[in-house]
Amino acid sequence: MRILILGGDGYLGWPTAMHLSKHGHDVAVADNYLKRRLAEEERVPALYPVPELEEKARLWESVSGFKVKVFTGDLQEWDVMTTVFREFDPEAVVHYAEQPSAPYSMLNRKAATLTLHNNLGVTFNLIQAARQFNPEVHIVKLGTMGEYGTPEIDIEEGWIDIEHKGRRDRFLYPRQAGSLYHTTKIMDTDLLWFYVRIWDLQVTDLMQGPVYGMYTCENESLEDLLPFFCYDEIFGTVLNRFVVQAVAGYPLTVYGKGGQTRGYLNIKDTLNCVRLSLEHPPGKGKLRIFNQFTETFSVNDLAAKVSEAAGSLGLNVEIQTINNPRKEKEEHYYNPEHTGLLDLGLQPHYLTDDILLGMLEFVKKHEKSIRKDIIFKGISWT
Ligand SMILES: NC(=O)c1ccc[n+]([C@@H]2O[C@H](COP(=O)([O-])OP(=O)(O)OC[C@H]3O[C@@H](n4cnc5c(N)ncnc54)[C@H](O)[C@@H]3O)[C@@H](O)[C@H]2O)c1
Repeated sequence: MRILILGGDGYLGWPTAMHLSKHGHDVAVADNYLKRRLAEEERVPALYPVPELEEKARLWESVSGFKVKVFTGDLQEWDVMTTVFREFDPEAVVHYAEQPSAPYSMLNRKAATLTLHNNLGVTFNLIQAARQFNPEVHIVKLGTMGEYGTPEIDIEEGWIDIEHKGRRDRFLYPRQAGSLYHTTKIMDTDLLWFYVRIWDLQVTDLMQGPVYGMYTCENESLEDLLPFFCYDEIFGTVLNRFVVQAVAGYPLTVYGKGGQTRGYLNIKDTLNCVRLSLEHPPGKGKLRIFNQFTETFSVNDLAAKVSEAAGSLGLNVEIQTINNPRKEKEEHYYNPEHTGLLDLGLQPHYLTDDILLGMLEFVKKHEKSIRKDIIFKGISWT
């Protein structure tokens, strides 16, 4: 399959490019380095430097023999999107190209505006390009479990059957995001669902939980091909952050009561979920939704796991409760369905002690580069 990855320089984008090309697909990536620019502007460098796309593609070809075609440009620009479609003619598109940080989206007016325009702009251009160049193209869009929020009832996989005054119908499961970033993801889903109904597009929307880890089957012995590893408050995800905090001797920062529960997954599982979705398309005129995570943990659970694993390496880790800068429920019911990807054949990599020890040992190698001043800034939601 010819697969185009939008946002191919990112934490998930580049590992996906290597994974899909190794599985026999013809892969192209597009990116404008927005993430690198924002991290530079906010002075929150990743744990180690990562080569740019041309260099990564050259390195990957030299070790694997697989070519990945590279496009650079802002996909909010119609000319950029059309050039990529004309030159590569994708049969499927993986859409990662968004501003993915909730704290960044809540930082100030400028950051909020960028998040809103960028995320919806890329999704909208992609929909228009699909219509113009290949209405059969399968769009695999990364959404987030955060679209559902934390309701008092079970979370279904995308859709809910409602009986009302004696009649029944099926609707998108109610969404109630906790940040502007998550709200843009809801709007993406609404745009895609609208054009699926109107133009018969075929879309898979993956409601993904926070991802952890850096090793994939393709990069384990290739340090230059590892993905970005962010541990700052803006762009880092919680488990990756806790691992760095443990190594740096910085107390694990639990926001409020720490009962905030979410669905998590290993980066290896992200790659398999995306590939399984691509290899089993839903068919024209369908919006298929999968909840993409493998197990749920509260923040307290994660802090305890990291602290225990770090202890076995001789690290003395403190867990510290701090005032929650976010506006969210700190103790709540959480029971989301997630059978769709398992039914397609996903074999999860669970969060074992070995996985945590591997992450801690990896981060220890980069201990000298850890900047403690970027771990917590207290970006407030209110
Ligand atoms: N990482 C996670 O834990 C996680 C969890 C749930 C959902 N997601 C979603 O998965 C996707 C990928 O996440 P990630 O962690 O790899 O983020 P990332 O920021 O590392 O990657 C996104 C990439 O898209 C690029 N990009 C953004 N806007 C662009 C534009 N206008 N034109 C061209 N390129 C553009 C960025 O430069 C970046 O390289 C995002 O949509 C994110 O919302 C991620």
